[in-house]
Amino acid sequence: MMHVTMRQLSTFEALARLKSFSATAEEMHVSQPTVSKQIKALHESVGVLLIEQIGKKIFLTEAGEALYETCVNWLHMWNRFEQTIADLKGLKQGRLSVCAVTTTKYFMPRLLGPFLSQYPDIDIQLEVVNRDRLLERLARNQDDLYIMGVPPENIEAEAEPFMDNPLVLVAPAAHPLARRKRIDFKTLAREAFLLRERGSGTRIALERYFEERNTPLKIRMELGSNEAILQAIIGGLGVALLSQSTLSFYSEHRKLAILNVVGFPLMRSWHTVRPRGKPLSVVANAYLEFLHLHIDQLLE
Ligand code: PGA
Repeated sequence: MMHVTMRQLSTFEALARLKSFSATAEEMHVSQPTVSKQIKALHESVGVLLIEQIGKKIFLTEAGEALYETCVNWLHMWNRFEQTIADLKGLKQGRLSVCAVTTTKYFMPRLLGPFLSQYPDIDIQLEVVNRDRLLERLARNQDDLYIMGVPPENIEAEAEPFMDNPLVLVAPAAHPLARRKRIDFKTLAREAFLLRERGSGTRIALERYFEERNTPLKIRMELGSNEAILQAIIGGLGVALLSQSTLSFYSEHRKLAILNVVGFPLMRSWHTVRPRGKPLSVVANAYLEFLHLHIDQLLE
């Protein structure tokens, strides 16, 4: 019987998936030497080469591939086991892992807080990532529930809308169009846009809107967060399409204007999403029910 620890196996799974020691260290919340040490110990226990490093690139050997597959299955089974135990303990001590897109960070904590007050012993984990990262996590079945704008098209998932998500066009307050009414699309298309990073759902919504109208989108700059975009708008660098929830808690909103363009705001919804057919834990079910039942009160 080989002496392999669960920690070594989860480190190996992350390394085989991410193909990077530094990314693995980051995901596992440990240092890089710790990752190397665990992989070395695993190699010694298994007794054959699992990983080959050529330059900076990491490759799995045949044995490595086989172990990776075993790890994925094992992690899946282990999560199911943990969930069974949590379900047996009922809502007392369950765990809820929610993964939500970046833009939801303005309201998600308020939608989780009251649930936590009702069930104080539940351990909630909220991962906030952009749409692309969320889809990766969804495909790998890493969380109980996902919160996003547009539900995925090519992943088998069940989506349910729970709240409006108007996407508004934001400009600096002093912008020449700020006081105009019923601005047409042609006028809008002359504006230079500030875009979120690739993989952002908000960005996809704007790009699709222009694509559907066969109109090139004038891109002034790409920025990695809603906050950076808001600052850039105030700095006069351009206009942007943003979820209205981005503005709700923004202290400098007086320096901004929402443009009155025909067809805007784009009316979208926030959705709860989960892999199709995935049996939900008692806790996840309770949360879904809680969210859909209390959404109006939660937002007040
Ligand atoms: P984002 O996602 O925060 O990645 O832009 C928003 C969305 O899914 O609508």
